[in-house]
Amino acid sequence: MSVKNYILAIESSCDDTGAAIILNNTIISNVVANQSVHELYGGVVPELASRAHQQNIIPVVDQAIKQAGIEPSQLKAIAYTRGPGLMGSLLVGGSFAKSFSQALAIPLIEVNHMQAHILANFIEDANVVKPTFPFLCLTISGGHTQIVRVNDFFDMEVLGETIDDAAGEAFDKTGKILNLPYPAGPIIDRRAKNGDPLKYTFTKPRVEGLNFSFSGLKTAILYFIQKEVRLNPTFIDENIDDLCASVQHTIVTILMDKIKQASEETGIKQIAIAGGVSANSEVRARLKEGETTYGWTTYLPKFAYTTDNAAMIAMVGQLKFERQLFAENTAKSVAKYHL
Ligand code: KG4
Ligand code: ZN
Repeated sequence: MSVKNYILAIESSCDDTGAAIILNNTIISNVVANQSVHELYGGVVPELASRAHQQNIIPVVDQAIKQAGIEPSQLKAIAYTRGPGLMGSLLVGGSFAKSFSQALAIPLIEVNHMQAHILANFIEDANVVKPTFPFLCLTISGGHTQIVRVNDFFDMEVLGETIDDAAGEAFDKTGKILNLPYPAGPIIDRRAKNGDPLKYTFTKPRVEGLNFSFSGLKTAILYFIQKEVRLNPTFIDENIDDLCASVQHTIVTILMDKIKQASEETGIKQIAIAGGVSANSEVRARLKEGETTYGWTTYLPKFAYTTDNAAMIAMVGQLKFERQLFAENTAKSVAKYHL
């Protein structure tokens, strides 16, 4: 009988507590507990996030093991998110992973969350085509905005990143200005479908190289809205669909301009996307357009693996397990963790 290398993975970098089990590149369970507590505050509150991770971690891991139909004694290693992320949140998953691996006397594997977003593209799935090296990855979420040149599984180079807000933050913070609940990204996406993307134009930031900036756009939108609301107090309600469409169009254009520039500069036409904002319908449509306009081949992991999840941590866990890249039990969680 062949040995089955079941690997448990734990993700707790921000406000989602996740646990997953992988076997031979295939995810056999993937559990995520989202934290609704932050909705009240219009953004993630770090202290509340770490408390919720503490409550969620044991039931989430327990469920992942049960759904996989295995016993803890069958696990061969435990992978966890070492960083980047919120320190209080990282510490919960990290401490749990360390204790559990010690109790089971199995190796510990530390994972860079950003690398995991990218390598989620390699999770086995009947409907998903995996990229070949080298490719570019646009990682866009509430916490990250990066363009990465991926030469190999563990050979990656950040070509550009945001110098202030992340793309998801641009959606969420603009949503707040438009009185939409948090997280506003999916709502803006939905409302934009009925609006005119060219009705309002906002100046796009001029940023060096392949870096991004979104904070100026947020301020421009705020001033614009304040001015209009002074003239007409119901301006937002009357124009909400056009406002959503125009804001979305501006953010997506900023993203597309840079990925196009990155493709031209590197000569790489294989483009993958990752992160929660990759769910955006305009991002997807315009990326696909690039296939005909610029000759790109585009890759998108299954939706459940694009937002924060432990399946992507498990994928990296599997790749590191094959290479015997294990971590010391003394490895410290790191809020900033470069690729
Ligand atoms: O990857 P993710 O779940 O968590 C982070 O690591 O942040 O991404 C969440 C972000 C939020 O900012 C949310 O507003 C945004 O992804 N988002 C979207 C859409 N769905 C989620 N933004 C625009 N359009 C969407 N359809
Ligand atoms: Zn993330």
